[in-house]
Amino acid sequence: MTTVYVPLDSVAVALDANAVAEQLSQAGATVIRNGSHGLAWLEPLIEVQHNDERIAYGPMTPETATGLIADGVLKHPLIDHPLCQGTIANHDFLQSQHRLVFDRIGQDSPLQIPDLADVHKALAMPPDALIQMIETSGLRGRGGAGFPAHIKWRTVRDTEAPRKYLVCNADEGDSGTFADRLLLEGDPFRLIEGMVIAGHATGSNHGVVYLRSEYPVAENIFKQALDIARENNLIGQNVLGSDFDFDLELFVGAGAYICGEETSLLESLEGRRGQIRIKPPVPAVSGLLSMPTLVHNVISFAAVPAIVRLGGETYRDLGIAPSSGTMSFQLAGNIKRGGLIEVPFGITLREMVEGYGQGTLSGRPFKTVQIGGPLGAYLSQQDLDARLTYESMTELGAGIGHGGLVVFDDTVDLAVQARYAFEFCELESCGKCTPCRIGSVRGKETMDQIISGRASSQEFNMINDLCEVMDRTSLCQMGGMTPIPVRSAMERFPEDFVQGTSA
Ligand SMILES: Cc1cc2nc3c(=O)[nH]c(=O)nc-3n(C[C@H](O)[C@H](O)[C@H](O)COP(=O)(O)O)c2cc1C
Ligand code: SF4
Repeated sequence: MTTVYVPLDSVAVALDANAVAEQLSQAGATVIRNGSHGLAWLEPLIEVQHNDERIAYGPMTPETATGLIADGVLKHPLIDHPLCQGTIANHDFLQSQHRLVFDRIGQDSPLQIPDLADVHKALAMPPDALIQMIETSGLRGRGGAGFPAHIKWRTVRDTEAPRKYLVCNADEGDSGTFADRLLLEGDPFRLIEGMVIAGHATGSNHGVVYLRSEYPVAENIFKQALDIARENNLIGQNVLGSDFDFDLELFVGAGAYICGEETSLLESLEGRRGQIRIKPPVPAVSGLLSMPTLVHNVISFAAVPAIVRLGGETYRDLGIAPSSGTMSFQLAGNIKRGGLIEVPFGITLREMVEGYGQGTLSGRPFKTVQIGGPLGAYLSQQDLDARLTYESMTELGAGIGHGGLVVFDDTVDLAVQARYAFEFCELESCGKCTPCRIGSVRGKETMDQIISGRASSQEFNMINDLCEVMDRTSLCQMGGMTPIPVRSAMERFPEDFVQGTSA
């Protein structure tokens, strides 16, 4: 019987992958549900195995599946078929990537227990040596702030306490981002491996993955992966025969952007409303249940096995230090080829948008790309040759955040986008501090006046003042970063912010 791989990730499923799988199965194929390779515009992207070769076809629909089956796709490759993508590893979108976190994704069922050599190696290392390796690697948090990982690891290790915890932040609320989801759905063991290693290094015996409720497929797969990990002694007592005990559980959040901020997340985990905690103390000193807690994004933990495998120096030498290693960028919005691009830091925005993405889906001229989520900067054509490193983005008044890139064509109105930033903040604010709670509402109202053409210089001054106050006095980065999209839009696209004459 011919084996066919059909992705089970949310994007493929939303595009009828289950029906395609059912049809192939009824036609006599052995169907394996794999993770997505991350070429979102080709989903559902199936692969048909002939001898040692897997030939890909996509994007599939139930109708095109009927046609392919009738043409004999289960008997021999249909290389000349318009949907044939050849061997997927040779696709230009994948060939030029350098995948370390996503290297296994798409190859097999996400529930296939992988080779655990990296974990064996790490468990044989003294914790201090592991933390030194993380320091050498230059790993910085992939959740948004880009904070050096080793500082948090060492703080948790060195803080005296009866218990220590790991918390994985899988709340992934940024618009246009999906790297965490793709990994949890397609290779959950990568995260579990990373957390086991981090637990051993920091002296934490208990981990929690905080997953956003909007990811039911990831929830289902991760639950099964936890059972398989337990059966295979990747978690539990005496992990892989060592003297290290580590347990891991899944917690599904209640659905709020602010619960992605680490202290709100901890509040939510402890059963309270997701509101910011005042820092200090930082979670690495006093986090979950007041114990030292290492909070990391999914991709930060998932980068750890590769660092153990390659060594800190080799990992650091990828990218442009101090932006070291690879970053999992997510290309979305009005773009021809959206998807997951894991490459060393240092690629230019142009290579991303015009190379990987091949320009706008609409075919209209590119106008802007928002980088780093809903509170990220809008960059223009003039910024496209900037390199994607933490440092060069800071120079532009932007941030890489979780690696989301949302592209817009020339029909977008940046004044509307600036209003959206305030509205987003209004809706998602936890309400604890005045600049964010009230400033976002006043900002939205003032932007309404600007958009209607009734604004005078007074309204423009008001926006500038609100941005200043929110930036300087908000308790957390929710209010603190809202001025970033607003200011970047006003600076780079002043033609969209026109002063009226009637006021
Ligand atoms: C409003 C707000 C939302 C955030 N949302 C997320 C999120 O969805 N996922 C995430 O990993 N980090 C998010 N963060 C960053 C976290 O607070 C924290 O820095 C991160 O989880 C630390 O992990 P890292 O060191 O691996 O980056 C958010 C921060 C803010 C201010
Ligand atoms: S800035 Fe906004 S989200 Fe952050 S504490 Fe203040 S009100 Fe809450």
